[in-house]
Amino acid sequence: MPMRRREKRKAARRGGKVDQRVPHDPVRAGPLSIVILAAGEGRRMRSALPKVLQPLAGRPLLQHVIDTARTLAPSAVHVVYGHGGERVRTALGAAPVSWVLQAHQLGTGHAVLQAMPEIPDDHRVLVLYGDVPLISRDTLLQLLQLAGENGVSLLTARFEDPQGYGRIVRDARGLVRQIVEQKDASVKQLAIRECNTGVLVSPARALRNWLGRLTAANSQGEYYLTDVIAAARRDKVPVQALLAPEPNEVLGVNDKAQLARLESLCRGRSARELLLAGVTLADPARIDVRGTLTHGNDVFIDVNVIFEGRVALGDRVRIGAGCMVRDSEIGADTQVHPHCVIEGALIGPACLIGPFARLRPAATLGPQVHIGNFVEVKNAQLGASSKANHLAYVGDAEVGHHVNIGAGTIVANYDGAQKHQTIIGDDVHTGSNSVLVAPIVVGAGATIAAGSTVTHSVPAGKLTIARAVQATVEGWRRPSKSTK
Ligand code: UD1
Ligand code: CA
Repeated sequence: MPMRRREKRKAARRGGKVDQRVPHDPVRAGPLSIVILAAGEGRRMRSALPKVLQPLAGRPLLQHVIDTARTLAPSAVHVVYGHGGERVRTALGAAPVSWVLQAHQLGTGHAVLQAMPEIPDDHRVLVLYGDVPLISRDTLLQLLQLAGENGVSLLTARFEDPQGYGRIVRDARGLVRQIVEQKDASVKQLAIRECNTGVLVSPARALRNWLGRLTAANSQGEYYLTDVIAAARRDKVPVQALLAPEPNEVLGVNDKAQLARLESLCRGRSARELLLAGVTLADPARIDVRGTLTHGNDVFIDVNVIFEGRVALGDRVRIGAGCMVRDSEIGADTQVHPHCVIEGALIGPACLIGPFARLRPAATLGPQVHIGNFVEVKNAQLGASSKANHLAYVGDAEVGHHVNIGAGTIVANYDGAQKHQTIIGDDVHTGSNSVLVAPIVVGAGATIAAGSTVTHSVPAGKLTIARAVQATVEGWRRPSKSTK
């Protein structure tokens, strides 16, 4: 998109920053191809898992970059992969990207060149790094606008400690002249604080030409993508630099310490979003959202709670300290007491859960259900106002409403080979320490005596006892020790 002169002048006054309210218009700007570099080995992670698959806020690093790239509505996203390649492809196989193999890592320029056969001349190319996950859509839109249809733009950042980065060398007029890598820089160049983030935009036709002419005549013997900047200058193609508005966005991940720093940034971001949306957090530094958390009004979340996948909390839900909730829905006014593990559960309104409860996949609780301490529920529906308050296992069961599952009740759903279904009618009471051996049907209103092991279906409305009859042996004597 050619920038109108007035916009350009305004942008110049803001130090190259373009108004981000101007919407991106991919049609007017011509088609866009995005190349994500992800072939590096990442040896400093000291991990068997390829670097770009390391999780950040619950998603692989590369997934963050792909997701942001897709928001720009590009014609194509090409991921250049190499090290651990097949694993990366398998892990992210569902992503709508094209995979480009770089068999030998000969440098960033060589990496982009591998994707060029796929990219038509009339496209613009945006280069991203698979290990720089927090880059934002807004910044990329600004960068695309700055490049215009025929120019080159690059994203720079000012670092207190520029160690390791390529330095931005400007001429007397302040225009970008070239990028010098740390290892090739003079003492004077090393003092430059403005660094290359690696993110750049270029017209495809020119980029193809510049990449084709790269040489590896440098201290690392690599084909540097950064050398295209000097080539652009030689060809009189305008090169614009955008100083990253938020330096955290361009942080790369090379080791676990940097990964932890980014994780903490993500934690801070999601906590702030929740607070601003009206959620009360006991401590914004002690909540982890590794996925998407949606919520109603006046939700309270105590310390050290972890959310994974998609979690939805209704109005006035309270989550106690130390809970872990994954892929679950929790209805309004439900209270989850501390230290519960909840996964794949659908919890109705006004329930009381925990402390120390475990809800496993397909646990489905109606309104006002109570699940107390050391109770495990798996693939079971519990109707309204049913209770299992202490030490119980309910698996593969359909439980009616107003049922009281006594302390220590076990639904024995597994015979060692097959799982079987148990059906418990409305208003049933099971006594403490009863075992219900599936498959079995317990009729509505039945009472099962404490300590029973029931193996046949239980009739409705009656007391069923299935335990040895208590007996007292008259005249019995305890054995005594013989004295020798
Ligand atoms: C690169 C830049 C440097 C910049 C820095 C920012 C070059 C020559 N230098 O340096 O100016 O300040 O990034 O972090 O571009 N990769 C491949 N194939 C390769 C080599 C790299 O896919 O053959 C990928 C890596 O996986 C990584 C990215 O490209 O995602 C950057 O590679 P890296 O080796 O970290 O580049 P730097 O030397 O740090
Ligand atoms: Ca790097």
